Amino acid sequence: MAATAKSPRVKALVAGNWKMNGLKASRKEVTALAKRLAKGKRASCDVLICPPATLVGLLKEAAKGSKIAIGGQDCHAKPSGAHTGDISAEMLKDAGASHVIVGHSERRADHGETDAVVRAKAEAALRAGLVAIVCVGETEAQRDAGETLTVIGTQLAGSLPDAATAKTVVVAYEPVWAIGTGRTPTADDVAKVHAAIRAALKKRFRGEGEAMRILYGGSVKPSNAAELMAVPNVNGALVGGASLKAEDFYGIIGAYQA
Ligand code: PGA
Repeated sequence: MAATAKSPRVKALVAGNWKMNGLKASRKEVTALAKRLAKGKRASCDVLICPPATLVGLLKEAAKGSKIAIGGQDCHAKPSGAHTGDISAEMLKDAGASHVIVGHSERRADHGETDAVVRAKAEAALRAGLVAIVCVGETEAQRDAGETLTVIGTQLAGSLPDAATAKTVVVAYEPVWAIGTGRTPTADDVAKVHAAIRAALKKRFRGEGEAMRILYGGSVKPSNAAELMAVPNVNGALVGGASLKAEDFYGIIGAYQA
C-alpha cells in the first residue's frame, strides 16, 4: 500500500481478533503472515493476533522468531477458582499471550458485561502482566440519538483501571454498528471520537494518557486501512474478519509500512 500512516510519538498496533474462528489448521495463516512480514517492507507497527484461547499456545509457537505477538480475547477477573469454563489472565500469560482484549461489544452484549466487570478484567490483565485492550463503542441507536461522546465517556470512565499506563493499556474504539457490517464512520467522525478519547485519557492519566494507544475497529480492511489509520489520534486497528487471512491482514499492516 502506498500511503503511510504515522503518529509522531505513539507506535501503532495492528491487532487481529479472530473471535470464535480458527482450528489448529489456522496455524498456516500465522506462518504465512510471519513470512510476509520478514520478506516485505519493514512495518513500523506492532502486530498482534488474538485467536480463541485454544490456539494461544500453538500460535505462539508458530509465531516464534517473528514480530507477531499473541493475545487472548477475554479473561476472568480472578486468577483461579471455581469458575467453570472461564480462563484467567494468568492462564493466558502462561500459554504465551502478551495481551488480552476486554469489554468487546460482543462480550458486553452476549454476556451482559458492564463497565465494572470490564474494569475488573482489565485490572486482572495488569495483575498478570498482560496488556489490556479495552473496547468501547456506541450502538447505532445511541449514535442516532447524538449520544456517542457521552456513551464513550461513560464507558472509558467505568472500564479503565486507575493504574492504566501507556504500556499496559490500549483503548479500542469500535462503533458497534460498524463491526462486521462493512460500514465505517467517516474519517471526520473517527477523528472527533478519537480526539474526545485522547482528551479524556489526558485528563485522567496525564502524560500516560497522551501516549496511550487508541485503536479504531469496525470493518477495517486493506482498502480502507490507510485512510482510517491516517486519522489523527488513530494509533492502529482492531481487526475482526479481515484478520483471519494472512493476505488481508498483511494488507492492513501495509498502512504502516515505512
Ligand atoms: P470486524 O470486527 O473487523 O469484522 O468489523 C472488528 C471487531 O469486532 O474487533
